[in-house]
Amino acid sequence: MDPEVLKKIEEDMKNFTCKMGEIQGVPFPETTCEIWDKIYNFQAREDDILIATFPKAGTTWMQEIVDLILLNGDVERSMRAPSFMKVPFIDLNAKPRIPGVEAANTMESPRLIKTHFQIQLVPPSFWEKNVKVVYVARNAKDCVVSYYHFQRMNKALPDPGTWNEYFSMFLAGKNPWGSWFDNVIGWWKAKDKHQILYVFYEDMIEDPKREIRKISKFLGKDLTEEVLDTIQLHTSFDAMKENPMTNFSTVPSFVFDQSVSAFLRKGKVGDWKNHFTVAQNIVFDEEYKRKMEGSGLNFRTEL
Ligand code: A3P
Repeated sequence: MDPEVLKKIEEDMKNFTCKMGEIQGVPFPETTCEIWDKIYNFQAREDDILIATFPKAGTTWMQEIVDLILLNGDVERSMRAPSFMKVPFIDLNAKPRIPGVEAANTMESPRLIKTHFQIQLVPPSFWEKNVKVVYVARNAKDCVVSYYHFQRMNKALPDPGTWNEYFSMFLAGKNPWGSWFDNVIGWWKAKDKHQILYVFYEDMIEDPKREIRKISKFLGKDLTEEVLDTIQLHTSFDAMKENPMTNFSTVPSFVFDQSVSAFLRKGKVGDWKNHFTVAQNIVFDEEYKRKMEGSGLNFRTEL
């Protein structure tokens, strides 16, 4: 990018606070609300693949896996661009970047598309075109911790406040993109009505190759063991942390301040234990039980 333009953005970011709005009662950055009609009327294509998640569930990890599956494990081609450029995020309208929907419109097929929307907000054309969706779900306790650190370092989102404040806000579903509970339950209920593969982050940590195989079968790809091994290796936490195309080091530090918290922070199951107080854990478990009762969804918070 032109250094002058970059400097101007840096100046703008110094005075920037992310204003929030709502879409159907779900909190989003105001810039997303402003173009909601455009987002909702987005035209999916039959051969799109939608990667849907609640924020911090392992979206970037899945983007890399799916991209490499489509490329039959061609690592060099997977490194053609940063992850966030290869996979447009249709929810996002973060200036000065062009809206995610517009970036997607100009892309050649087959496209990978990212969303954090709860299912009722997904543009209907995805269902009309019977698009395949890979949904990643991660346990709520690790999500709240990861999201808290992400909002600390991401200057384009509101400041998260203290850990204690953030904890309460998350339980109330007031964080950007709304309730974790509504997100995971909504997608879970819909999974048999559409072409949705529901994958758990904890399963990916436990046995990445098994999950990569499952995802490639779902996408109609029969990959050799060797290719599966390559994909596993190239999408390991350590490899992605080193890779400038996946570690967000191409995003300027006045937007993602990775000295505050790295984008690829820990990549573990159970880091919540280093953050939750005993009292918070009791409050969380009670609310969790109330909200998840009867959902049929089970998460592991440790392995
Ligand atoms: P932590 O903050 O717990 O480390 P998203 O891409 O949806 O924003 O998710 C980011 C989270 O996924 C971060 O969690 C990040 O470290 C983790 N992650 C990204 N790539 C990973 C990988 N290859 N293996 C395990 N975790 C990964």
